[in-house]
Amino acid sequence: MTFIKLENLNKTFFPNTSREHHALKNINLEINRGDFITIVGGNGAGKSTLLNALAGTFFVDSGSIIVANEDVTNMKEHKRAKYISRVFQNSLQGTAPRMTVAENMALAYKRGEKKMFNFALKKESKQNFAKLLETLNLNLETRLNAEMGVLSGGQRQAISLLMATIKTPDLLLLDEHTSALDPKTQKIIMNLTEEKVAEKNITTLMITHNIKDALKYGNRMIVLHQGEIIKDFNKEEKSKLRREDIYNLLDSL
Ligand SMILES: Nc1ncnc2c1ncn2[C@@H]1O[C@H](COP(=O)(O)OP(=O)(O)OP(=O)(O)O)[C@@H](O)[C@H]1O
Ligand SMILES: [Mg+2]
Repeated sequence: MTFIKLENLNKTFFPNTSREHHALKNINLEINRGDFITIVGGNGAGKSTLLNALAGTFFVDSGSIIVANEDVTNMKEHKRAKYISRVFQNSLQGTAPRMTVAENMALAYKRGEKKMFNFALKKESKQNFAKLLETLNLNLETRLNAEMGVLSGGQRQAISLLMATIKTPDLLLLDEHTSALDPKTQKIIMNLTEEKVAEKNITTLMITHNIKDALKYGNRMIVLHQGEIIKDFNKEEKSKLRREDIYNLLDSL
């Protein structure tokens, strides 16, 4: 059943100027609940713009975005944040670097709620956050009171993923969330991603330049080029693809 529907989406940056750029061209996409879609495409193809349109970073020029039968096309970003979680390439984005790990997790937990944030964290919440961190096996449960900004990129990405899934989001958006990490940490973060997505059956869109990961993870893969979805491989098609097929396809564009 269709859970998210993008219909005829268009976005042009700097319209009617010399810098005019038609970044999303008539995008149509239907996403089922629980779909894990990987997104590939060259630099500037419009991948991040597509995720930004979904998250409400800006409003699209035309077309509609329906999530769970609700038209969110004109819903502001902070309202959509209640349903949509994001993890970015830069691990500092999406977290508060001067706040502690525990405070960041508490913010994620209360996201979308109107209640004032209480900085005096309850012992009980801290214990719960410590338990969650323990599941990462990265010894981060000992860093609850450390400022987020002093952790390594990999440690922050692991915590960002926990934060993004602490309350099960309707949609998880991952924008090259492993690309700034060393190979070993990339693996840890991808395993964690797969585990969290499966555990909570989270509908997920993941942008990556790592073709191996794009093929390995998820049940669907789309290819973007110059603001258009030029390929949409289903699970079966995707399982038959070799890395070379995608390299050749991207090379031919
Ligand atoms: N906020 C913005 N203002 C102006 N132009 C933008 C904005 N965001 C994106 N663009 C332009 O839209 C095009 C698509 O950018 P986008 O960031 O979506 O590419 P991408 O596929 O994510 O590329 P990359 O792989 O390099 O991250 C680019 O030409 C970019 O310069
Ligand atoms: Mg991008």
